[in-house]
Amino acid sequence: MKYSMENTIEASRLEQQVLDKTYNLTSELAALGVQFTGRVLDAGCGTGVLSRHISNNYPIASIDAFDYSDIRVAQAKTLVTPHQKNHIHFYQDDILQLAQTTGKFDHIISRYVIEHTNDARKAIENLSQYLQKGGTLSIIELDGVFFNLYTSHQELNELIAELKSLAPFDLNVGRKVPAYLEQVGLKEISWSADQICCNGTILKEEFENTKLRFKSMHPFLCDVLSSEKKATRLEELYLSEMNRPSSTLVFTKFFCSAKK
Ligand SMILES: C[S@@+](CC[C@H](N)C(=O)[O-])C[C@H]1O[C@@H](n2cnc3c(N)ncnc32)[C@H](O)[C@@H]1O
Repeated sequence: MKYSMENTIEASRLEQQVLDKTYNLTSELAALGVQFTGRVLDAGCGTGVLSRHISNNYPIASIDAFDYSDIRVAQAKTLVTPHQKNHIHFYQDDILQLAQTTGKFDHIISRYVIEHTNDARKAIENLSQYLQKGGTLSIIELDGVFFNLYTSHQELNELIAELKSLAPFDLNVGRKVPAYLEQVGLKEISWSADQICCNGTILKEEFENTKLRFKSMHPFLCDVLSSEKKATRLEELYLSEMNRPSSTLVFTKFFCSAKK
């Protein structure tokens, strides 16, 4: 399945997003409470923000990092320092196939990826097969992002509900990850969650992020809603209602880990 935001400009959104308070990597990895050592796999690496962070901060031997998008992999390769280049191997693969991934890993991590697939459980099952015995799989996922906006604008609420009913992915996957980890036979499951309340600075940052998301996902929205007019209307209403003081947007960020 094609990524809903597949577009060359998606790279700059991912590089910007990691600077936002909501998506801070140091806080996210602290919440996971995992120390990276040995061989690491970054599944759905995007532009490589996570791989670069791990390479700079942990005594890892090497990182393999793949993404479905050839464009994203090519962009990731241009963003590494010479030191990082020696430690990170970027390549193309599909988390639902894993045809190019080889060997076993001490740590596998996937950040904001399985929410974009049409089979999150299968993605977790696939990754678990590449863990060393005693290795750790960590998943950072959102639950309720975008779709949780509630406003007093009836037309927008209906458009959001329509999109949610048609979208070929699950933006409520966060809450399901611990159950999926158990179903695929992993042990020592742990999870925690943060609530993200979009007001003040967080709202400003999420608003800018949503503007960039819409730029990348416009063709996808036209396709899913079967109408360019509806897609444009959804984008305009969403952005204007997001800033209304009476609108609410709260979502949850899950940090989940388990061992083989
Ligand atoms: C929201 S981005 C997150 C990227 C990166 N993990 C990060 O933390 O910035 C989602 C990424 O998942 C990738 N993706 C979507 N479906 C995929 C699949 N089936 N296999 C591998 N990567 C996929 C997209 O190409 C995109 O780069």
